[in-house]
Order: sequence, then C-alpha cells, then structure tokens
Amino acid sequence: MAEVFRSIVLVGLPGSGKSTVGRQLARRLGLAFLDSDHVIEERLGCSIRTCFELQGEQAFRDLEEATLAELVQRPDVVLSTGGGAVLREANRRVLRRHAWVVYLKASPEGLFRRLRHDTTRPLLQVDDPLHKLRELHAVRDPLYREVAHHVLETGRPSVSNLVAHIAMQWEQRALAGTGHGPVDGPGC
Ligand code: S3P
Repeated sequence: MAEVFRSIVLVGLPGSGKSTVGRQLARRLGLAFLDSDHVIEERLGCSIRTCFELQGEQAFRDLEEATLAELVQRPDVVLSTGGGAVLREANRRVLRRHAWVVYLKASPEGLFRRLRHDTTRPLLQVDDPLHKLRELHAVRDPLYREVAHHVLETGRPSVSNLVAHIAMQWEQRALAGTGHGPVDGPGC
C-alpha cells in the first residue's frame, strides 16, 4: 500500500513567497508551519548570511540537507524550504518521497522587483542581482520541476488566491481518493 502524504512542501526561488504562502496555507488547512531556514538559523544561533560568510556555502548545504531530511518526516505540516534546497539530489528524493511538493514558479524579473532592497540573502549580495536571479532560475527551474508534484505560476495572483488554489488541489486529491499518496503516473 502506498505511503500516505500528510505534509506539503513548498519549493521555489528566493522571494517566490514560500514563507508567506506557507504560513497562510498552514493556517487554512489546520496544519503546522515550518520554515527550514528558520530552523537552521535557530540551530546555528546566527543568520544564514553570517553562516555563509563564516563557514561557507557547503557547510550551510550540509546542515540544510540534515534539517530537511528531519523536518519532511513530520506529519501534518506545511514546510517552506530555502531556494537552494533542490540542488542536492538527496534532498529532491527525500522531499518528493515524503510530501506533496508544490513549486511556486516566478520570473527572475518579478523576483528582482520584490528583492532589490533585500540584504539577508547571501547569494544576491552581488553587483547585478537580476543577472544572478536569471542564472539561478536557469539552473534550478528544471530541478524544481523534477521534484514538484504540482507547479503554480505566482506572477499575477494574490497570496490569498495562491493559498486557495493550493488548498483546493490538496483537498481534491484527498477527495479523489489518492490518499495524498505518492502518485504512480505523472500526477500533480
Ligand atoms: C538560498 C535561499 C535562501 C537560503 C539561503 C540560500 C538559495 O532561502 O536558504 O540564503 O540558495 O537560493 P530563501 O529561498 O527563503 O531566500
């Protein structure tokens, strides 16, 4: 018998709304909300930006891998992940296996408009953040698609519309008797 999905994971580029959407979605569905970056910062005792500066990106990715593997096994949560969570194959495997994964898709230009004054994201503290976002999108869009059971375009809809859409898909899956279980075919 197929394993039952009891949790939702949100993936997508920085600024795509994973935390904002995730928090509201969890409230709407009566699930707990977790943000893997916040958990990592609590464990580190400092910001991710400081971690990148002091220990380097690979040390952060190691901690991210261990944290995701743990958090995704918790039942009844909406888990928002860091934008680079999909880079490691082990992460993609564990996320897709244990949760219904939704990709919040956004254009680099739209993200740039939202993030141009941001100082918290280490990868975007560069001379040309738009160029960086385009690079991240080119590398990661195929990986987000690979891990996701469902892809959602975030460009125009409001946060509450995005939340309503995801909640409806989640509830329809339950009603359709898929049991929120891993899909055999190309499910969404
Ligand atoms: C990262 C995105 C960040 C955070 C870290 C690395 C990335 O999360 O995990 O700075 O590689 O894109 P957000 O997507 O929440 O900004």
